[in-house]
Amino acid sequence: MAQIIDGVSRTFNEFLLLPNRTRTECATETVDLSTPLVRHARGERSAIELRTPFTSAIMQAVSSPELAIALARNGGLSFIHHNRPIEAQAADVRTVKNFKAGFVASDTNVKPADTLGQLQELMVRTGHSTAAVTDDGTGSGRLLGLVTSRDFHPQRHDADEPVASRMVPVDALACSREDVTLSQANARLWDERLDCLPVVDGEGRLRHLVFRSDYSDNKRFPDQLVDAEKRLRVGAGVNTHDYRERIPQLVEAGADALCFDSSDGFSDWQAQALVWSKKHFPDVPVGGGNVVDAEGFRFLAQAGADFVKVGVGGGSICITRDQKGIGRGQASAVLDVAAAREAFAEETGQYVPICSDGGLVHDYHMSLALAMGADFVMMGRYFARFDQAPGAKLPTRDGFVKEYWGEGSNRARNWQRYGQGGQGLIFEEGVDGYVPYAGDLSEGLAVTIAKMKSTMVSCGAMTVQEFQSTARLTVVSEQSFQESHATVAVRETPDSVA
Ligand code: IMP
Repeated sequence: MAQIIDGVSRTFNEFLLLPNRTRTECATETVDLSTPLVRHARGERSAIELRTPFTSAIMQAVSSPELAIALARNGGLSFIHHNRPIEAQAADVRTVKNFKAGFVASDTNVKPADTLGQLQELMVRTGHSTAAVTDDGTGSGRLLGLVTSRDFHPQRHDADEPVASRMVPVDALACSREDVTLSQANARLWDERLDCLPVVDGEGRLRHLVFRSDYSDNKRFPDQLVDAEKRLRVGAGVNTHDYRERIPQLVEAGADALCFDSSDGFSDWQAQALVWSKKHFPDVPVGGGNVVDAEGFRFLAQAGADFVKVGVGGGSICITRDQKGIGRGQASAVLDVAAAREAFAEETGQYVPICSDGGLVHDYHMSLALAMGADFVMMGRYFARFDQAPGAKLPTRDGFVKEYWGEGSNRARNWQRYGQGGQGLIFEEGVDGYVPYAGDLSEGLAVTIAKMKSTMVSCGAMTVQEFQSTARLTVVSEQSFQESHATVAVRETPDSVA
């Protein structure tokens, strides 16, 4: 006969924090949000500490290099998604590692024969008003010119006119070579009254653009998450199918941490993959998941996981609970796993951080997750709303939205995450939809961080660790809230209604 677990499966919506005494020295300016990312001896420090407790979901609609850069600059970490050829994922990791503050990779690029109509469309899509004209229409092709929104107007110029007729050709542009420093580039921008300075290599191929508007950018990010060489940190998702080939290339590309990405991490496949990874790359941190209980945590921690992700069925785009009847309220899952992490640390002296993944709808849910014992959180929907996320920004009657789709949707077809037997998806476990557009990541995250710090101050906690050990929570009602489908308008596609 099946075993019934004691206790109700509870969600974050059912809890509130009680204020604790706030000491005079406890203020939002003094609250420290740093938190361990990877396994370490109890009482010592983790080899990687996040400066803010946020990671972005291993999803096509979320963790692009642009988002990874923005998040690392704000102290968190992205895990670049893996449902594609290894070279493409490794290239994204390299993009983040090669990022130089102030030097941006051009994302709005055209060929000289492209039309002004196509250029206009591209500018709307990327939201940028400066485009590089290159021989192959990529951001690393040979630079032929620049064209900005000041060089043409849809009402004055024919949409069929080629870009070449309106661009400023490369001979008439001020350009710098690759060895230029940010302060030299900035000096040229001001001395020569330029808005944009292209940086090219010895063969005239475009490497970066430096914009006057980014001038004081670096000072805005005191909490950047960087490695010993001051390069931004980035993680990468891996799967239990091609890890023997994928992991070496990601490590070579400079990934700071890896994470096995599975909707159900309590499996022999994942344990074997973790053991392999730790044997061949002992110095590269690798996380595992997802699990929802003490047994699952212990299984992965014993297999060598450097952190464990918690959460099944709670994601906003997730329909696993409806499709397979599997999952657990995220609050119950985090509380159970956090207790297991403490017991494991007591027994082995090893602290294995845990991550609450999915189903965080309100900013205060993130604080609740930490209070309940999570060391950091992972979010998809939250980050998909920002400019830096890869989904298209689209106008609707009610304002702008961004596309957001689950890894188990027909659009993503991430069969490596959703083992349903064989290659390919037999049924969907995620939806394809939209989320409300939320602007720039740094601005949005600043508000979330302010709320989190304010919550911690009310609870009298100056660090995440203190918050975890002193928080008092109360259950607010018996009513169970549905965690999934938060503010995602489901797009009815022929596939999803079939
Ligand atoms: P969110 O922050 O609530 O949007 O949840 C994001 C999390 O949902 C991810 O980190 C994954 O763990 C999980 N996830 C991603 N895609 C799917 C899907 O298609 N079905 C179920 N869960 C998913």
